[in-house]
Amino acid sequence: MSTPNAFKRHLITAALPYANGPVHIGHIAGCYLPADIYVRFLKMQGNDVCFVCGSDEHGVPITIKAKNEGVTPQEIVDRYHSLMQEAFFGLGISFDTYHRTSDPLHHKTASDFFLHLYEKGVFEEKETEQYFDPVEKQFLADRYIVGTCPKCGHDHAYGDQCEACGASLSPTELIDPKSTLSGEVPVLKKTVNWFLPLDAFQEKLTDFIGSKKSYWKSNVYGQCMSWLQQGLHARAMTRDLDWGVKVPVGNADGKVLYVWFDAPIGYISATKAFHGEDWEKYWKSPDTRLVHFIGKDNIVFHCLIFPAMLMAHGGYNLPENVPANEFLNLEGKKISTSRNWAVWVHEYLNEFPGREDELRYVLTSIAPESGDSEFTWSDFQARVNNELVAILGNFVNRVMVLYKKFFDSTIDADVSSFSRNIHNQVVEGAFQNVSHNLHQYKFKNGLIAAMEVARHGNRFLTETEPWKLFKTDPLATRAILNDCLLLTGQLSFLLYPFMPHTSKRLLNLLNLPNSENTPAWESKVQFSKGHILSEPQHLFTKIDDAQMEIQREKLNSVVEVDHQPGELNFPAEKAEVSFEDFTKMDIRVGEILSAEKVKKADKLLHLTVDVGIKQISLVSGIAQYFAPEVLPGTKVCVLLNLAPRKIRGVMSQGMILMAENPDGSLRFVQSDAATGSIVG
Ligand code: MF3
Ligand code: ZN
Repeated sequence: MSTPNAFKRHLITAALPYANGPVHIGHIAGCYLPADIYVRFLKMQGNDVCFVCGSDEHGVPITIKAKNEGVTPQEIVDRYHSLMQEAFFGLGISFDTYHRTSDPLHHKTASDFFLHLYEKGVFEEKETEQYFDPVEKQFLADRYIVGTCPKCGHDHAYGDQCEACGASLSPTELIDPKSTLSGEVPVLKKTVNWFLPLDAFQEKLTDFIGSKKSYWKSNVYGQCMSWLQQGLHARAMTRDLDWGVKVPVGNADGKVLYVWFDAPIGYISATKAFHGEDWEKYWKSPDTRLVHFIGKDNIVFHCLIFPAMLMAHGGYNLPENVPANEFLNLEGKKISTSRNWAVWVHEYLNEFPGREDELRYVLTSIAPESGDSEFTWSDFQARVNNELVAILGNFVNRVMVLYKKFFDSTIDADVSSFSRNIHNQVVEGAFQNVSHNLHQYKFKNGLIAAMEVARHGNRFLTETEPWKLFKTDPLATRAILNDCLLLTGQLSFLLYPFMPHTSKRLLNLLNLPNSENTPAWESKVQFSKGHILSEPQHLFTKIDDAQMEIQREKLNSVVEVDHQPGELNFPAEKAEVSFEDFTKMDIRVGEILSAEKVKKADKLLHLTVDVGIKQISLVSGIAQYFAPEVLPGTKVCVLLNLAPRKIRGVMSQGMILMAENPDGSLRFVQSDAATGSIVG
């Protein structure tokens, strides 16, 4: 089913943010704001909607942060859980419940879910070799191992990634590995973990994703298909770690559930926390629709892995849609928690009190719906001043001030319908247009459609000039202004999903009842004889240059704070290089002649590449992404003058250029120029 109209009950989830840093505008624009707009809108249409979120409090980065600060992981998550919760609610993100994965209810829910799969025999029990710290006597998560990067020689690469060259690594590829806990050389030790055989779900998942082709966002559908085409593999659903949900089976001491196993179950726990016994109908009833709002780095988990878990369990609905967004950049750079390059929501709320809707408006206007987008303070200022102040605020203020001036803010007859049909057309058109766009997750266009009514109101005032008419035709002046009051009332409903605070203020200005309950979509307002409007007051005020300068300075003055690994998709930006430095690199188009696996290294391939002037031997960490037999004939770009190195006993005389997708998968950087062509 692709149309939400056919359903009355909706379960809407927003990705559980990691509780290891505050919420920033990128999170809001990409996930929480669209989800909130959608939920408010569905509720206005009379649907039964449950909107859940919470803090994702497990995972290795949290334990590392705790260790660095010398506190317990629980202290870290307590700190950020409250901070995030306040920031969300401060901005009007209307979760029905904001739960957390360290809650006992969640531990029980996740643990039972695992046990159910375990008892059904879903998991494969596999023994693997993992690095173990002989001094601390514990297994080491990939991030707890550092060593020299086999790709670029950087001497502080992590077991899962080198932040200097961006390569994804496995711990056994590191040269001279050391444990970050004790500084000792780790030893390989056997351990047993439970794997979800995703390959066994390949067909069912392909059917599931295939059935979404006509109505899922193409970026989401495309990413899923590319994972499926590469073939799914079993993934470990347990880890040797002491922070998380304990694995509820025998012989599993010191093991917890993989964070990506327990976190999505957090949606279920949150539903239980809010609805108690009633939770099941939101998850299991076929007339409930499940929609996950997420950022693009979460696609594989929500579209393939979590659905596989739900299928394996049985009895649960699968997501009907996963409208993932792309990323929001900030002043020309990627937002980064560890580098403090962000606008933090809790700080914004402090520094711009009462201006929640300005941020909501701007973030909706620039939402990264179909590609990455960018927030700059000057654009923020321009949108607030030229759109909210100059169009919406100006219209409402002109009406309020004129009504006061000419009619002492008092309405002299019952007013419930427009005096001119054009207004009906504009308002009805706007309701339809907003609704149409929101049903398709087009929040930007929805907002533009709602604002159209304010633009129309301004044009109407400018054309009819009621202030000039008053002397000769006060009745006409009244009729015009009454129409404008009705338009203002309609705006309060049209804008409610996007700007709930403003919606309330509009009703307050009109002195109309304004309950805590969600107003109905396409509600109408009316004024009775003798109704008195409130005092005119500006809805929005201009943001001046000085305020923006403060924000820009604040951003640029940030120093690199504590290094916090874990942001795998955002390797630090590199330092500037000169043009001369760049031209030192000899990059050429090559063609792969042969490829074979490197023994005892499951990520490495040994390649022979024709680069025009010669044939070279290369070792590349791409075995997980490409089968060796498909590679001969593939055109690639190769850095030729990289100092040669021996990797696993094989000489590597250069490096193949790769691009890493947000989901961690690799692609060749390719050119259709002739073999041997120089790149530069
Ligand atoms: N914590 C993850 C992130 O911030 C999102 C988890 S979503 C859930 O990327 F489904 F697992 F809850
Ligand atoms: Zn490297």
